[in-house]
Amino acid sequence: MQQDIDRILITSRQIADRVGELAAELAGKYAPAGEEQSGELTIVAILSGSLIFLADLIRRLPMRMRIALVTVSSYPGTSTESRGARLFEQITADVAGRDVLIVDDILDTGGTLRAVRAELARRQPRSIRTCVLLRKPGKAPPDVPADFVGFDIDNYFVVGYGLDYDGLYRNLPDIAVLRPELYTSGPGGDRA
Ligand code: XMP
Repeated sequence: MQQDIDRILITSRQIADRVGELAAELAGKYAPAGEEQSGELTIVAILSGSLIFLADLIRRLPMRMRIALVTVSSYPGTSTESRGARLFEQITADVAGRDVLIVDDILDTGGTLRAVRAELARRQPRSIRTCVLLRKPGKAPPDVPADFVGFDIDNYFVVGYGLDYDGLYRNLPDIAVLRPELYTSGPGGDRA
Protein backbone atom coordinates (compact mmCIF):
# COMPACT_ATOMS: atom_id res chain seq x y z
CA MET A 1 0.00 0.00 0.00
CA GLN A 2 2.98 2.29 0.40
CA GLN A 3 4.06 2.44 -3.23
CA ASP A 4 4.06 6.25 -3.34
CA ILE A 5 6.21 6.66 -0.22
CA ASP A 6 9.88 7.59 -0.38
CA ARG A 7 10.85 7.50 3.31
CA ILE A 8 9.71 8.24 6.85
CA LEU A 9 10.41 11.84 7.86
CA ILE A 10 8.97 11.96 11.40
CA THR A 11 8.18 8.83 13.40
CA SER A 12 5.01 8.28 15.40
CA ARG A 13 7.13 8.39 18.58
CA GLN A 14 8.55 11.80 17.68
CA ILE A 15 5.05 13.05 16.85
CA ALA A 16 3.63 11.84 20.16
CA ASP A 17 6.44 13.51 22.11
CA ARG A 18 6.04 16.81 20.26
CA VAL A 19 2.25 16.81 20.57
CA GLY A 20 2.71 16.47 24.32
CA GLU A 21 5.05 19.47 24.33
CA LEU A 22 2.64 21.52 22.22
CA ALA A 23 -0.20 20.68 24.60
CA ALA A 24 1.92 21.90 27.49
CA GLU A 25 2.66 25.16 25.63
CA LEU A 26 -1.03 25.65 24.90
CA ALA A 27 -2.07 24.88 28.46
CA GLY A 28 0.48 27.43 29.66
CA LYS A 29 -1.11 30.04 27.44
CA TYR A 30 -4.79 29.31 27.92
CA ALA A 31 -4.98 27.64 31.34
CA PRO A 32 -2.06 28.88 33.43
CA ALA A 33 -1.43 26.95 36.65
CA GLY A 34 -2.83 28.69 39.72
CA GLU A 35 -5.62 30.48 37.86
CA GLU A 36 -8.73 28.98 39.35
CA GLN A 37 -11.16 30.28 36.76
CA SER A 38 -9.29 29.68 33.54
CA GLY A 39 -11.11 30.55 30.36
CA GLU A 40 -12.78 28.40 27.79
CA LEU A 41 -11.11 27.73 24.47
CA THR A 42 -12.83 27.39 21.10
CA ILE A 43 -10.85 25.20 18.75
CA VAL A 44 -11.59 25.53 15.05
CA ALA A 45 -9.98 22.56 13.32
CA ILE A 46 -9.45 22.44 9.59
CA LEU A 47 -10.47 19.13 8.03
CA SER A 48 -9.55 16.74 6.74
CA GLY A 49 -5.79 16.85 7.27
CA SER A 50 -5.85 17.82 10.94
CA LEU A 51 -8.15 15.04 12.13
CA ILE A 52 -5.54 12.83 13.80
CA PHE A 53 -3.49 15.73 15.13
CA LEU A 54 -6.66 17.24 16.58
CA ALA A 55 -7.71 13.98 18.23
CA ASP A 56 -4.31 13.53 19.86
CA LEU A 57 -3.85 17.17 20.85
CA ILE A 58 -7.22 17.77 22.51
CA ARG A 59 -6.91 14.66 24.65
CA ARG A 60 -3.75 16.12 26.13
CA LEU A 61 -5.34 19.51 26.86
CA PRO A 62 -7.02 19.37 30.27
CA MET A 63 -9.26 22.43 29.96
CA ARG A 64 -12.76 23.49 29.00
CA MET A 65 -13.11 23.66 25.24
CA ARG A 66 -15.56 23.63 22.39
CA ILE A 67 -14.61 22.21 19.03
CA ALA A 68 -15.80 23.39 15.64
CA LEU A 69 -14.82 21.75 12.37
CA VAL A 70 -14.37 23.43 9.02
CA THR A 71 -13.62 21.75 5.73
CA VAL A 72 -11.17 23.44 3.40
CA SER A 73 -9.67 22.05 0.24
CA SER A 74 -6.74 23.32 -1.79
CA TYR A 75 -5.15 20.16 -3.28
CA PRO A 76 -7.66 18.37 -5.49
CA GLY A 77 -6.97 14.74 -6.44
CA THR A 78 -3.37 13.83 -7.17
CA SER A 79 -2.29 17.48 -7.36
CA THR A 80 0.50 18.57 -5.03
CA GLU A 81 0.02 22.19 -6.07
CA SER A 82 -2.33 24.39 -4.07
CA ARG A 83 -5.23 25.69 -6.15
CA GLY A 84 -6.20 28.24 -3.51
CA ALA A 85 -8.12 27.58 -0.31
CA ARG A 86 -11.88 27.11 -0.46
CA LEU A 87 -14.15 26.84 2.57
CA PHE A 88 -16.84 24.28 1.90
CA GLU A 89 -19.34 25.57 4.42
CA GLN A 90 -19.84 28.45 6.79
CA ILE A 91 -18.33 28.17 10.26
CA THR A 92 -21.33 28.01 12.55
CA ALA A 93 -19.55 28.26 15.93
CA ASP A 94 -20.31 31.35 17.99
CA VAL A 95 -16.85 32.81 18.53
CA ALA A 96 -17.69 36.40 19.51
CA GLY A 97 -15.70 37.38 22.58
CA ARG A 98 -14.02 33.97 22.81
CA ASP A 99 -10.43 32.77 22.60
CA VAL A 100 -10.12 30.90 19.33
CA LEU A 101 -7.37 28.49 18.34
CA ILE A 102 -7.24 27.40 14.69
CA VAL A 103 -5.70 23.94 14.34
CA ASP A 104 -4.33 22.76 11.01
CA ASP A 105 -2.05 20.02 9.79
CA ILE A 106 0.45 22.07 7.78
CA LEU A 107 1.26 25.67 6.95
CA ASP A 108 2.48 25.87 3.39
CA THR A 109 1.54 28.93 1.29
CA GLY A 110 -0.70 30.24 4.07
CA GLY A 111 -3.81 30.39 1.89
CA THR A 112 -5.83 28.05 4.07
CA LEU A 113 -5.10 29.75 7.39
CA ARG A 114 -5.64 33.17 5.86
CA ALA A 115 -9.10 32.21 4.59
CA VAL A 116 -10.22 30.67 7.89
CA ARG A 117 -8.69 33.44 9.97
CA ALA A 118 -10.41 36.15 7.93
CA GLU A 119 -13.74 34.40 8.26
CA LEU A 120 -13.36 34.13 12.05
CA ALA A 121 -11.97 37.65 12.55
CA ARG A 122 -15.22 39.11 11.19
CA ARG A 123 -17.05 37.67 14.20
CA GLN A 124 -14.96 39.57 16.74
CA PRO A 125 -13.42 36.86 18.88
CA ARG A 126 -11.38 37.92 21.92
CA SER A 127 -8.24 36.39 20.38
CA ILE A 128 -7.25 34.25 17.42
CA ARG A 129 -4.14 32.09 17.43
CA THR A 130 -3.02 29.29 15.18
CA CYS A 131 -1.46 25.89 15.88
CA VAL A 132 -0.03 23.75 13.08
CA LEU A 133 1.69 20.40 13.29
CA LEU A 134 4.01 21.15 10.37
CA ARG A 135 5.37 24.30 8.76
CA LYS A 136 7.14 24.48 5.42
CA PRO A 137 9.79 27.16 4.93
CA GLY A 138 9.54 30.46 3.28
CA LYS A 139 6.25 30.50 1.43
CA ALA A 140 3.78 31.66 4.07
CA PRO A 141 3.64 35.47 4.07
CA PRO A 142 4.00 37.38 7.36
CA ASP A 143 0.27 38.11 7.64
CA VAL A 144 -0.31 34.40 8.33
CA PRO A 145 1.67 33.65 11.47
CA ALA A 146 1.69 30.28 13.22
CA ASP A 147 1.74 30.80 16.98
CA PHE A 148 2.35 27.15 17.85
CA VAL A 149 4.34 24.86 15.53
CA GLY A 150 5.10 21.16 15.89
CA PHE A 151 7.87 20.72 13.34
CA ASP A 152 9.54 22.85 10.68
CA ILE A 153 10.14 20.69 7.62
CA ASP A 154 11.79 21.16 4.24
CA ASN A 155 9.71 21.67 1.15
CA TYR A 156 8.60 18.05 0.70
CA PHE A 157 5.08 16.88 0.01
CA VAL A 158 4.33 14.77 3.05
CA VAL A 159 1.63 12.25 3.90
CA GLY A 160 0.54 10.28 6.94
CA TYR A 161 -0.85 11.15 10.39
CA GLY A 162 -3.89 12.64 8.67
CA LEU A 163 -2.22 14.11 5.59
CA ASP A 164 -3.13 12.60 2.26
CA TYR A 165 -2.12 12.24 -1.35
CA ASP A 166 -5.19 11.70 -3.55
CA GLY A 167 -7.13 10.69 -0.44
CA LEU A 168 -4.63 7.99 0.54
CA TYR A 169 -2.15 7.50 3.41
CA ARG A 170 -4.01 9.45 6.11
CA ASN A 171 -3.83 6.34 8.29
CA LEU A 172 -0.03 6.04 8.28
CA PRO A 173 1.10 6.52 11.90
CA ASP A 174 4.31 8.28 10.80
CA ILE A 175 4.80 11.31 8.55
CA ALA A 176 6.42 10.25 5.28
CA VAL A 177 7.78 11.95 2.18
CA LEU A 178 6.00 11.28 -1.09
CA ARG A 179 8.18 9.88 -3.90
CA PRO A 180 9.84 12.90 -5.60
CA GLU A 181 8.74 11.84 -9.09
CA LEU A 182 5.12 12.45 -8.03
CA TYR A 183 5.85 16.11 -7.35
CA THR A 184 5.28 18.83 -9.87
CA SER A 185 8.83 20.10 -9.42
CA GLY A 186 10.39 17.93 -6.70
CA PRO A 187 11.52 18.80 -3.17
CA GLY A 188 12.85 22.30 -2.89
CA GLY A 189 10.99 23.28 -6.04
CA ASP A 190 8.34 25.96 -5.95
CA ARG A 191 4.91 24.34 -5.97
CA ALA A 192 3.01 27.47 -4.98
P1 XMP B 1 -1.56 26.30 2.41
O1 XMP B 1 -0.74 26.39 1.16
O2 XMP B 1 -2.97 26.76 2.24
O3 XMP B 1 -1.59 24.75 2.66
O4 XMP B 1 -0.83 26.88 3.60
C1 XMP B 1 -2.23 24.21 3.73
C2 XMP B 1 -3.05 23.03 3.31
O5 XMP B 1 -2.52 22.43 2.13
C3 XMP B 1 -2.41 21.05 2.28
N1 XMP B 1 -0.98 20.71 2.18
C4 XMP B 1 -0.50 19.50 2.19
N2 XMP B 1 -1.13 18.33 2.30
N3 XMP B 1 0.94 17.22 2.22
C5 XMP B 1 -0.40 17.19 2.31
O6 XMP B 1 -0.98 16.11 2.41
C6 XMP B 1 1.66 18.37 2.11
O7 XMP B 1 2.89 18.34 2.04
C7 XMP B 1 0.88 19.56 2.09
N4 XMP B 1 1.23 20.85 1.99
C8 XMP B 1 0.06 21.54 2.08
C9 XMP B 1 -2.99 20.73 3.62
O8 XMP B 1 -4.32 20.32 3.44
C10 XMP B 1 -2.99 22.01 4.39
O9 XMP B 1 -4.06 22.15 5.27
